[in-house]
Amino acid sequence: MALDSPTSYADAVAAAVQAAAAYYTDGSTPLGDDEYDALVREIEAWEQAHPDQVLPDSPTGKVAGGAVVGDVPHSVPMLSLDNVFSAGELADWAAGLERRLGRQVDGWCVEPKLDGLAVAARYQAGQLAQLITRGDGLAGEDITHATDAVLGLPQQLAEPIDIELRGEVLLTQEQFDRANEIRLAHGAVPFAHPRSGAAGTLRAKDRPYRIELTFFAYGAVSHLTDLGHTALLERLAQLGANTAATTAAHPLRCATIDEVQQRVEEIAALRAALPFGIDGVVIKADSAADQEQAGSGSRAPRWAIARKLAAVHKVTRLLGVEWNVGRTGVIAPRAVLEPVVIDGVTVTYATLHNPADITRRGLMLNDQVFVYRAGDVIPRVEAPLVDERTGDELPIVFPEVCPRCGDAIDTSQQRWRCVRGRGCEAVASIRYAVGRDQLDIEGLGGTRAVQLVEAGLVADVADLFALTRNQLLALDRMGETSTDKLIAAIETARTQPLNRVFCALGVRGTGRTMSRRIAAHFGSMAAIRAADAEAFAEVDGIGTEKAQVIVTELAELAPVLDKLAAYGVGTEETTPARSAVADVGEQTGPLDGQAVVVTGSMTGPLADLSRNQMNELIERAGGKASSSVSKRTTLLVAGEKAGSKRTKAEELGIDILTPENFAQLIADYLPGT
Ligand code: IVH
Repeated sequence: MALDSPTSYADAVAAAVQAAAAYYTDGSTPLGDDEYDALVREIEAWEQAHPDQVLPDSPTGKVAGGAVVGDVPHSVPMLSLDNVFSAGELADWAAGLERRLGRQVDGWCVEPKLDGLAVAARYQAGQLAQLITRGDGLAGEDITHATDAVLGLPQQLAEPIDIELRGEVLLTQEQFDRANEIRLAHGAVPFAHPRSGAAGTLRAKDRPYRIELTFFAYGAVSHLTDLGHTALLERLAQLGANTAATTAAHPLRCATIDEVQQRVEEIAALRAALPFGIDGVVIKADSAADQEQAGSGSRAPRWAIARKLAAVHKVTRLLGVEWNVGRTGVIAPRAVLEPVVIDGVTVTYATLHNPADITRRGLMLNDQVFVYRAGDVIPRVEAPLVDERTGDELPIVFPEVCPRCGDAIDTSQQRWRCVRGRGCEAVASIRYAVGRDQLDIEGLGGTRAVQLVEAGLVADVADLFALTRNQLLALDRMGETSTDKLIAAIETARTQPLNRVFCALGVRGTGRTMSRRIAAHFGSMAAIRAADAEAFAEVDGIGTEKAQVIVTELAELAPVLDKLAAYGVGTEETTPARSAVADVGEQTGPLDGQAVVVTGSMTGPLADLSRNQMNELIERAGGKASSSVSKRTTLLVAGEKAGSKRTKAEELGIDILTPENFAQLIADYLPGT
């Protein structure tokens, strides 16, 4: 929306000034970063068209939007960065710089744009003497009191030199979570997000608690002027300062702008996995000669640019809270939001973790809230904007009984649970257990599962194996034929291999693939039950955290497991996966050593097999099944409508078979042969 009058321009300036002041003082803001950037771009456009009407307050052309001043003059101005928002704009900027220099730039340095606060750290004879905020770029505030709590900013450098380090102070995600734990324990309001936490913490004095921060150096004022930027960063690390070199998004010297663009994409892709927030990627001409010749404007250097990434925090309204009961009886609150686009994805729901979390964050219905989403993470509500309240906010009502079955709620833990635990979800868990990839019992997917649970015949998956013909016949709408069919299906399921029986238990964090791995690794249900977290962590793909969850869940499932053992169901693995075979050094099967991917719909003898059954088959025949094509893939089974996986396999020169040819290859291993 473009500005169309002096009044709308003045309003926009006032809104931007207010947002910048909040952002640079306590890190809070009524606008998300994207909205602020967009507002400033509108203001700039209007000012270009009306250069005689520019307001003195305008944030354009000023460091920190002109928001803050301090009283310690900077040795050399602390500049800001100009922004570009796309690969095209970045290419144009680079071409412009090369035109200005009259030659090609001698290498670029590409590094993360850390989302914290800029500081200058003055060292005298290697000793940390003073820490200053950026302020308005010409003078900042003295925050030397905060140095003790900043990791990566040594009190003493490795050499006794005079130097001023420049860099960013932030809260890593871990430090942010820890900070909010500490603040809650002290009855303080939690930080809305990491940057506001860092801003508040740097300025705070006399807090009764200590919050740790992290410093990353990205520049210096020193005699080291002839070093290129990459070399300077290395030198700063040698001196003992923390730099981004230790992270996956480490600074990288690139020779061409194509390499730069590629590295930008890489860093952007790493974003969600980084332990700290970034809001962009900074591209700098690497050589000191290029930097010097390009020079700087009053606000930003001409030799560097920030390629901004979409904001991962957005402000929206909390419309409601839903309470969902999971398979294990956990009652989890979920925020219903006014839809908001975060990094190209419309977010309507966000996790609220647990009821204590809602209380802790002091959330109310109709609140404006900060929502976070990056990469594939589940969006989460971080905090309300308490200053934006209008009086129309309402308390969030917590359920008093289980929203699904109406029984009581166990509120003794942080995560609330229906007192019936898995029993509450008996129907859902039984439907899951009888699924095609688990026990594969036809006829129990629909209302019959409800009928069995309501009749009190079945409370968990094990009870299925104790059902008698007479019990079934006594049910409504159960004739002789359907009863016999169901009994026969249950009889067949009795001989399902361990991996499927294990999968049927619905242990959190274990789907089909993981169940196969666990079954192959341990070989028997008894061994699985005897395993501790350490033993589970030896299974490929299980980390220490997941291992602990599995052990806890299995302990809870003990009564079900006892019953299964008594009925002789799922005691041993009858179809060892490839890895188990390899463990004992045997080489069997036509797919020995093959890494196989299946794509498209199967036809011929394989037409009826689910993807899971295909994977089981591959592993029985000695191969390793995986879901994506990579350099390691040796064979692709491509059915009808095979798409991008086929193209990729063709590009990589991987063997491709039709389902029919593949069926011939592994004929001896087909089910029923
Ligand atoms: S260079 C003269 N490098 O972004 C060069 N700045 O939006 C100026 N920032 O004020 C800064 N990561 O607070 C530089 N790798 C990085 C950075 C970085 C974050 C911050 C810095 C700067 C702001 C501009």
